[in-house]
Amino acid sequence: MSKKTIILGIESSCDETAASILTENQHGIPTILSNIISSQVDVHKEFGGVVPELAARSHIEKIDWIVEKAIKDSGKKLEDIDAIASTAGPGLIVCLSVGLSFGKALALSLNKPFIAVNHLEGHALSPKLNSQLDYPYLLLLISGGHSQFLSVEGLGKYKRLGTTIDDALGEAFDKTAKILGIEFPGGPQIEILAKKGNPNKYELPKPIFNRGGCNLSFAGLKTAILKISKTLKTDQDKYNLAASFQKTIEEILNKKTKIAFEEFKKKNNTKTNHFVVAGGVAANKKIREILINLCKKENFKPIFPPKELCGDNAAMIAMVGLEKYKLNQFTKLDHPAIPRWPLDESAAFLKGAGVKF
Ligand code: KG4
Ligand code: ZN
Repeated sequence: MSKKTIILGIESSCDETAASILTENQHGIPTILSNIISSQVDVHKEFGGVVPELAARSHIEKIDWIVEKAIKDSGKKLEDIDAIASTAGPGLIVCLSVGLSFGKALALSLNKPFIAVNHLEGHALSPKLNSQLDYPYLLLLISGGHSQFLSVEGLGKYKRLGTTIDDALGEAFDKTAKILGIEFPGGPQIEILAKKGNPNKYELPKPIFNRGGCNLSFAGLKTAILKISKTLKTDQDKYNLAASFQKTIEEILNKKTKIAFEEFKKKNNTKTNHFVVAGGVAANKKIREILINLCKKENFKPIFPPKELCGDNAAMIAMVGLEKYKLNQFTKLDHPAIPRWPLDESAAFLKGAGVKF
């Protein structure tokens, strides 16, 4: 029996230090052997958001034992690893530099190939960790830093159909939570509070709802919520506002996804239309429900990564590493960390944004 490829994935783009060992089973299906994630929530809580310098320091303190634990838990040895894949962007430059340098150094010392991975491509491919998924598919990527509809046409082949013109959806959840006095990171808490409230209590704006194709906009919501928050008297008022926010988001996503379905169908002629929802906000149960219902009506097949793989993790980075390994797409060791790195090459790429170190 031929030896199965083993990839070490490393992620440190923001406030999660993570490492994972990934292989394939006899049918070529990716198999996670270990997936270690250490969140820095406690480090950043008192500041109400991620402090880059503290995040980087925390990555430096943890990266070696996280990688060690990932290898130990996988039952493999360091020398069994075929290649090392690290997130190279987008993200906070001081944070990216930690996992990227660590991965490069390890690859150099083991004399194994190194693979630089786009973090967004990790989210985009994360459903492949538990589902058989063929190209092309429509992707809705909703995370703390990005909100985009993309036509995924192959590894490294993305066409952007729509994007947020201001805040990302996760950012809108987090900002709403902050206004309501909920501890960072508030996104998941909003979902919980919303269950106790009346979603029809407050009328909130839906920016670019009737124009702009499947582009999105959430900044106006924050302003409206800030205004209403000054009138809140009881906890129930707070729950009502959280519920109204959640409902507004559902309506926006429902409408914009329907438009994205049409645009995807115009571009691609496939027998089965697959719709993948990935990124941290894809963990939101109500958002999942409305998108699943929409798929039923519009004849799309919905695919979500398992909840634990929606947020930042290194298994998705190793997954991209595995696909690139099979195509011999290795990276030179002078590859820079790239703080801004869009998936769609035709979208503005800031030349010179990469920083070598
Ligand atoms: O993908 P992710 O872990 O990190 C980025 O790459 O940004 O996404 C984090 C975002 C945060 O804004 C967080 O509040 C949001 O995902 N999030 C949620 C939920 N779980 C995480 N937002 C709404 N409902 C949730 N259940
Ligand atoms: Zn992410």
